[in-house]
Amino acid sequence: MAKVKTSFFCQSCGAQYAKWQGQCNACKQWNTIVEEVIQKPDKNDWKSPSTALKKSSVPLRINEIDSAKETRLNTFDGEFDRVLGGGIVPGSVTLLGGEPGIGKSTLLLQISLQLPYKTLYVSGEESQKQIKMRAERIKPNSKNCFVLTETKTQNIFKQIESLEPDVVIIDSIQTLHSDYIESSSGSISQIKECTTELIKFAKETATPVVLIGHITKDGNIAGPKILEHMVDTVLQFEGDRNHVFRILRAHKNRFGSTNELGIYEMQGSGLREVTNPSEILISKKDEELSGNAIAATLEGARPLMIEVQALVSTAVYGTPQRSATGFNAKRLNMLLAVLEKRAGFRLGTKDVFLNITGGISVDDPAIDLAVVASILSSNEDVALPKDVCFAAEVGLSGEVRPVQRVEQRILEAEKLGFSTIYISKYNKISNKQSTIKIRLLSKIEDLALNIS
Ligand code: TYD
Ligand code: MG
Repeated sequence: MAKVKTSFFCQSCGAQYAKWQGQCNACKQWNTIVEEVIQKPDKNDWKSPSTALKKSSVPLRINEIDSAKETRLNTFDGEFDRVLGGGIVPGSVTLLGGEPGIGKSTLLLQISLQLPYKTLYVSGEESQKQIKMRAERIKPNSKNCFVLTETKTQNIFKQIESLEPDVVIIDSIQTLHSDYIESSSGSISQIKECTTELIKFAKETATPVVLIGHITKDGNIAGPKILEHMVDTVLQFEGDRNHVFRILRAHKNRFGSTNELGIYEMQGSGLREVTNPSEILISKKDEELSGNAIAATLEGARPLMIEVQALVSTAVYGTPQRSATGFNAKRLNMLLAVLEKRAGFRLGTKDVFLNITGGISVDDPAIDLAVVASILSSNEDVALPKDVCFAAEVGLSGEVRPVQRVEQRILEAEKLGFSTIYISKYNKISNKQSTIKIRLLSKIEDLALNIS
């Protein structure tokens, strides 16, 4: 078979070389030279009778373009649909990344099993038997899900041509290899080539393709960064493997917002959708304990009540320890410095440990006030009432700053039975008819007075 013509390019400056070398002569970067295809033989390429692409290559006036809403395939998984922006768009290519063992294969197999369309689940990682065993734990009877264990893209396309599935799932892109490239599976040029072929297939046949991608130890999807540019949607499946909750986020979405969030609970029989996360994230306890505070946060469009736990104790060693789980450690240090300066707390001699329960991590700044409240509560050893929650950012001068969409947070707090919510004085609230008591704060000193 005719091999493709390849050349070596520096990924940093674009210089071209005839063969591989460790350092780029032009920009002096190390390990940036990668083999790339410059010409592919035409035959054996993915071909389709569809002329959809040819039609769209004529320039059209923007108001002549058919604006009919994309029809989307419902996946019958509320969380997955929401993160995608309302279902899978035909012809779209979605990349799902996540740590090993987090549940990527489980999630996509579960979706394949419940789809009413013909689905092809291609696995390069597990045998058909292994997949069957997993499927039996999730949903034993599914007539629409076909399983193929294959890693060569040309063979996959051959099977696709005869099966004509409505959805194709690839587990994982790093295990695929194409005949057009000589390098081994998982190498940058292989990943790029296989993705290109799959994207071409998806666009020409309007079949949605979902790819599973491994991630590197620093949390990026393995392979070239360009992979994330090529696909339409990049989803990340995250969570703490020791906890049962898993969070699905969109990092890039050409068909919807990236603000939405899906929450799942890993169970013995697969992943369960968590439709009301706040109820689970807040531990149900009868006694009030010091160091616990509830934050009314927002993840995307969704309000989420989160429990923050702090433990402040006298430092045993010279340098006090600070540790934060699920919260930015630098931000914790900043808040401690603010407390020290503005509220007169001598935290310099105390160890401070902070934990966001449920093993999730939040970057909503509205959690600040709950963090401060939990630290103060633990420091004073005074428990906060159970039915109180917080939603405000804390600034460097100790001011309690307003947060976005405070009404939604208040509404969620009210719905879950909280009696009081602390927010910033500067937050404008239009709807004041709520039954929940709204306490307005302007500086953290005010909060300190309320707690001690
Ligand atoms: P997996 O989906 O293989 O993770 P990934 O593809 O991201 O590497 O499996 C994740 C883990 O989930 C595995 O260690 C076992 C666990 N699991 C359950 O707890 N319940 C289940 O029903 C299944 C199928 C898996
Ligand atoms: Mg897997």
